[in-house]
Amino acid sequence: MCGIVGCVLDKKAAPTIIESIKKLEYRGYDSVGIATVTDKINLKKGSGKIKDVNNEIHLTDIDGNTGIAHVRWATHGIPTKENAHPHCDCDEKISVVHNGIIENYQELKEQLLEEGHIFKSDTDTEVIPHLIEKYMKEGQEFLVAVQSTIKRLKGSYALAIISKDEPGKIIGARNESPLIVGLADHGNFLASDVPAILKETNKVIYLDNEEIIVLTQDNVDIMDLELNKKEKNIDIITWSPEMAEKGGYDHFMLKEIHEEPQVIKDTLSESNKINEIVSNFKNFNRICFVACGTSYHASLIGEYLIETELAIPTEVILASEFEFFKKTLDDHTLVIFITQSGETADTLKALKIAKEKSETLAIVNVVGSSITREADHVIFTRAGPEIGVAATKTYLSQLICIYLLVAHMAENNELLEKLGKLSELSEELLTREEQIKEISKKYKYARDFFYIGRGFNYPTALEGALKLKEITYIHGEGYAAGELKHGPLALIEDNIPVVGLLPPGPSYAKTFSNLQEIISRGADMIILGSKDDKQIDMIEDKLLFNPVIDEILAPLLYIIDLQLLAYYISILKGIDPDKPKNLAKSVTVQ
Ligand code: M6R
Repeated sequence: MCGIVGCVLDKKAAPTIIESIKKLEYRGYDSVGIATVTDKINLKKGSGKIKDVNNEIHLTDIDGNTGIAHVRWATHGIPTKENAHPHCDCDEKISVVHNGIIENYQELKEQLLEEGHIFKSDTDTEVIPHLIEKYMKEGQEFLVAVQSTIKRLKGSYALAIISKDEPGKIIGARNESPLIVGLADHGNFLASDVPAILKETNKVIYLDNEEIIVLTQDNVDIMDLELNKKEKNIDIITWSPEMAEKGGYDHFMLKEIHEEPQVIKDTLSESNKINEIVSNFKNFNRICFVACGTSYHASLIGEYLIETELAIPTEVILASEFEFFKKTLDDHTLVIFITQSGETADTLKALKIAKEKSETLAIVNVVGSSITREADHVIFTRAGPEIGVAATKTYLSQLICIYLLVAHMAENNELLEKLGKLSELSEELLTREEQIKEISKKYKYARDFFYIGRGFNYPTALEGALKLKEITYIHGEGYAAGELKHGPLALIEDNIPVVGLLPPGPSYAKTFSNLQEIISRGADMIILGSKDDKQIDMIEDKLLFNPVIDEILAPLLYIIDLQLLAYYISILKGIDPDKPKNLAKSVTVQ
């Protein structure tokens, strides 16, 4: 939710800043703005995507070696130019970009208004430059005024602040919203996430909560809230800049789907590390998964796997609902957090609650993210940077980690062996992209879609429906195949598209009957099944043949078809699947 960048360089900063902020557009694309310092604050901002705003007002066209920029995902105040960041004080001497939410902004704003400050936006952020202005007018120097301001704020923030009076300096601060420092020979950077600075440097410092940073071209000081200097580690990033580029594909989402066979291989190479973590586990009598969105669906598959393979009572809790379930946590419960970004505010909050009573494990994609620093054990999903807002390759990598975890806990070598063959099978799947593209043509004007699956494949139905909703804006619902007859069957009518997941295995016969019930009510079925299935051959509706794979492993392959189906419907509808409306990749508000 919102991305920020700041840098002090040995050259004009605006072109570099705009290139960097483009890499954070996955975090928000309601509006964009930049401010630099020369002998004054130079400010340009507008509502809309970076490309469109840039075409209109030429964001790179401002002088100054020091600057800050922002992409917005609106929380307080609609996406207008006035509400776009950076925000300034009354005299336009201070300029601020902010990711997070200032919870006590109403109270602060009322006080500042009473003191005569003039507000130009409806945002929570604008109290920050006015507070700094107030303290500087009371005689505090820039850094101390920022410190005083931060002490008044309740809520979450990653901030980058510039002052007309100190041109070669950016002051940053972090609490509950991600912020990193990038160190380069030609200057220093602040950013919400690594892709923003990958082209400039691979040397990164991850900031912690309640830290203040002063950044100049050749120096970086990191301090606690009392301004005592702190020593921090410098991490070397192994992602290459190309990994955050489209590499010839029309969209990041398509590129990321095509990376799935490699991601499966890379994630499988974590097997030994996962085994080591498992060997240090206590004896748990209960397991909880906690996650949101796509990561929640990956967790549901984990629940089916653990219940069937390990017979340990397992439940999956939405991170935003977790606090209602905290009373039953104890030291015999393992709580597993699944998150791509490692920054999801709901998940982070739940982790902090769970840590008090239970052992915690996080399965995370982004190295250095907040959740990796809070959990007792961490497994990295090795999917590389995922820029498309819709999770694709990271979902698959989460699943691989969960399957490996369960296989090691259950000492199931047969499962481990089967996992080893998946990458090749997924390559086979991707060869029939044209077939899926063709099928998608029929659904440009569809209003509703249903997805059904049983057992391990029920969460795939939920995830398929989520992908469709996110990037096509078509209403999609996933159901357990056996549940349809308890209500939703009333919605099945002529030509309504229903995706049925029908892999071979113990659930096959029952699911097949459920599909027949739907077909006989006129639905337009898309069946994902197995090559050698003679029964579905007899169904006249279209078929997508998967490699023959048993129902326990089918979630790892069938989802690829559903991601592609959603992608191609999105393209037909003229939607940018990388930046669906109202969504952001990293959800750092609760
Ligand atoms: O970074 P996380 O995995 O914690 O994110 C959780 C959800 O916000 C995320 O999976 C969301 O549902 C995706 N956009 C789905 O494609």
